[in-house]
Amino acid sequence: MNVQGKHFRTIWLKEDDPTVVQIIDQRWLPHEFVIEDIHTVEQMAIAIQEMHLRGAGLIGAAAGYGMYLAALYASRSHREGFLQALQQAGQLLKTTRPTAINLQWAVERQLSAVLACDSPEEMAHATYLTAQAIANEDAEYCRQIGLHGLPLIQAISQRKPGQAVNILTHCNAGWLAFVDYGSATAPIYAAFEAHIPIHVWVDETRPRNQGARLTAWELGQQGVPHTLIVDNVGGHLMQHQMVDLVIVGSDRVTRTGDVANKIGTYLKALAAQDNQVPFYVALPSSTFDWTLREGVRDIPIEQRNTQEVTHMSGRTGAGKIETILLTPEQSPAANYAFDVTPARLITGLVTERGICTADEAAILDLFPEKRS
Ligand code: MRU
Repeated sequence: MNVQGKHFRTIWLKEDDPTVVQIIDQRWLPHEFVIEDIHTVEQMAIAIQEMHLRGAGLIGAAAGYGMYLAALYASRSHREGFLQALQQAGQLLKTTRPTAINLQWAVERQLSAVLACDSPEEMAHATYLTAQAIANEDAEYCRQIGLHGLPLIQAISQRKPGQAVNILTHCNAGWLAFVDYGSATAPIYAAFEAHIPIHVWVDETRPRNQGARLTAWELGQQGVPHTLIVDNVGGHLMQHQMVDLVIVGSDRVTRTGDVANKIGTYLKALAAQDNQVPFYVALPSSTFDWTLREGVRDIPIEQRNTQEVTHMSGRTGAGKIETILLTPEQSPAANYAFDVTPARLITGLVTERGICTADEAAILDLFPEKRS
């Protein structure tokens, strides 16, 4: 998508030096646009853990490139030693963030690619090809999610001619959370391009404010009309028919359609059901966890540093980025980063293969190869 009119992806190999991976360092957005060079798998692990980059699809792509970086520097004298170095790199990457399944999925995909090769040279080349394939696929799948989600917005627009379709989204499931287009935002961008009048309610998404800092910024960069709201406003807007559709992303979806997403998503789904507002979840297939059936019980929920709750960062009037304490110094805080929305509250899942209801049979109709 565009930043000041110039097309960017969120992760790429440096043009004149493909041993360097470049990312947009999201910690500084929306105030500064910083590109970071990543040279090693250890640096990539820090970038994921400390959220220089974040979002399920992008974490997956970053893990793919992290394995490629590990392969660049692993000793190539024996196949077994090389493989062991990559397995260790995979372990390191997998421990950085627990909830988004894309991370594990990308590491496993890299390891399978490597296992199919005979020599360390071939293995290293395989990590390059696989990293590029994961990133390209992520962008393409999100583009297709946009095409499949577009008719949902079109249909609402036809029912209210001349008025904007109001879409509420939570957190950042935009292009910054993927390689390009985003999942929840892809249908929004597709509708905007098709000149359908739309307006997006952007939940701020405490505590890290991915909505306020990232979604608002990226929608603004594309020129999409939007309004930032605090997290508790959605229910009120829905009661007053000011939301036509909710679209959120996901970090992990069970084979039965339970959805883990940024903390607060469940409450939006409850409010949507109470007000008969359609609630859709957009995801590429890399976000399905085919091994799980019970989301609330089995999806691991990341607990992050409580400083994200007790403190807040922003730009001062003097233009400096500063972090301030919000709370009484002694008050304990808790920081659950995700929650699980049960399938029964979800109207549909928008994937790169089409839309289905959030239940095992419908999901498997779209992904029949996962039946066994
Ligand atoms: O903690 P984050 O910012 O990595 O959270 C993940 C997310 O981006 C959201 O939960 C998002 O809605 C999921 S879609 C990538």
